[in-house]
This record gives sequence, structure tokens and C-alpha cells, in this order.
Amino acid sequence: MKNFLSALAIVTAVTAPSLGFAQDKNFRVGLITPPVHVWNKEVDAMGVTLGEMSEGRLGVTAFPSGQLGNEGTMLQQLQTGALDMAWLTTAGLTLRVPDMSALHAPFLVTNIADAAKILRSDEAREILDALPAATGTVGLCYAMTGMRQVMAKEPITSVEDLDGLRFRITPAPPIQTFFEAFGAAPAPMPLTQVYDSLANGQIDAIDMDHESILNFGYYDHAKNMLETNHQLFGMVALVSGRVWAQLSDEDKAIVQEAAQKHCDRTIDLFVSEEESKLERLKAIEGLTIVENVGPEFFGDIVERWDAEWSAQTPYLARLRALAATF
Ligand code: BEZ
Repeated sequence: MKNFLSALAIVTAVTAPSLGFAQDKNFRVGLITPPVHVWNKEVDAMGVTLGEMSEGRLGVTAFPSGQLGNEGTMLQQLQTGALDMAWLTTAGLTLRVPDMSALHAPFLVTNIADAAKILRSDEAREILDALPAATGTVGLCYAMTGMRQVMAKEPITSVEDLDGLRFRITPAPPIQTFFEAFGAAPAPMPLTQVYDSLANGQIDAIDMDHESILNFGYYDHAKNMLETNHQLFGMVALVSGRVWAQLSDEDKAIVQEAAQKHCDRTIDLFVSEEESKLERLKAIEGLTIVENVGPEFFGDIVERWDAEWSAQTPYLARLRALAATF
């Protein structure tokens, strides 16, 4: 936490002098997810919280569904100060912050309650300290969407069936490593293109969380699902370092507290609703779900993935050690 606070101080010092007084501010918040997603609802709720905590001086306007561009574009906008805040996937940050890749280690955890513990850990919090220097942003808190599951047009009965599949992935090196390990052909693309790409046959398979599967209806074109829980999928609430630098100390404290409240609520909602979302998926006609597909289905993927990534980030060993205590 000490490192985190000093990183904030550096951003404040290098980007612009603090104005030192309270000001009205409507934060523009970008998201790749659609208005029905939990993240979007919590961003709206964060706007209400900010208003309550600041006597109406602070608020948010959300830009959902990648309206402002994909996550890489939003990150650039945050860096220049053209965008105030964004709720971006941890995957989308891995190119700039390699340590974030450790959160995407396969089978780091195998259930959502443990995923929550990882994201609330000191180790994960420390990774946020790299954001100011690497991206010109300040990471306020983590949340998540659900655990990742596999969905495919054709049934997958063994890991050999992944060989040669055109597999949509969230653009992120650690995710690419995972699917390449099975001979799949990863097709990195933003969330906003996934439904159409499945519909027009550009891709054969995806990995996705329950919330997004339900929101987008991917089962229209991928009727085979494996309940794999192979990866947690985190989110970071980011604020532009330039914007942060211009806030008074009082407003920084309000923004930090409001963001934390809604990150926490997001995590709690995902943990409590993961099972009922699976039940809703099971009720969908035409969708075949194979449940409890454990790490053993993927052979020695953990060893192979770790062999490639352990030299790239010390957080991999630290997070695996932490997860072993759960
Ligand atoms: C994805 O890229 O798969 C994704 C992004 C945000 C929320 C859920 C999924």
C-alpha cells in the first residue's frame, strides 16, 4: 500500500500541479461491456455514490460497449487525459504491465470465491503500483467478471479437439500462450466483435464468463459449453493520471472510496450470482453443457504455461503460493 501511495504521488508530481481546491467534475468512464453488464450498472451506481459523497459536485457519464474504442484505445485516451476513467480488463493491461499476466495463469484458482480472494490480496494490489509509470493511469481497485468457460460450435470431448480451432481470445499474451499450447489458432479481437464473428463463422470457439454468455447470447452460434473455470477474469477501475493530478486531496479520497465500494460490490455480486447464472444457462434449450471439466482435462497445461511465464513475472510464483493456502 505504501508503494501504491507513493506511485500516486509520482503521477501527481509529474503530470500536472494539483489545483488544490474542490471542483465540479463529471467523470467520463469508458467500458467495453454493454449497459446490461454488472460493471456498467456499478459504474452508474458509483456516479450516485460520488454525487452523495460530494454534495453533487462529482458524477459520472458512462460510455458503454466500446463506444470510445477498444480497450487499447481507451488506455491511450486515459494516458492523454482525453478520457477520465475506465473499467478495463486485467487482460487488456497485460501488454503494458506484464506482472498482470500472473492473474491470468491457468487454474490459479478453480472457483470464483477463490478468485475474489486473489483479487483482494496484497500481491494483486501491488501489481497496480506499476500502472502510473507503465500507462499514465492510477489503478483504484480490482473487480472481476466471472470465471472463464469454453464455448464451441462443435462438441469438444478431449483437449485434442482444440487443435486447429480458430479460437477468439481477448487480446493478451498470457491468454494466447494458453490456447497456443493446445494447437488452437488464437484470433485476438475485442468483446464487441465476438457475437458477429461466431455468427458468420469467422471463429469456431471462444472462452467467456457466464455473465457475458447470457448478455450476448453466444449460445445462438456456439451450442457446446465446457464448464472449465480455467481462468479468473479481472477488471481494474482506472483513472487517468493527468485527471487524478488535478483533483484536490478531498476529491481523490472521495473517488478512491466510491470506486472501492463499487469494485467490492461487483466482486460480491459475481461471487453470489455465479451459480444461478449457470442454472440459467442450463435452462437454455439447445445449449449442451459439460460440467466440472477440471484441470486434468487440459493435461500438463499448468506446468507448460508456468514454464513460459515464470521468468516473466515474479508474481506468478507468489500468487500460486497464495492460492495454495486457500
Ligand atoms: C472479453 O474480452 O472477453 C471480455 C471483456 C470484458 C468483460 C467480459 C469479457
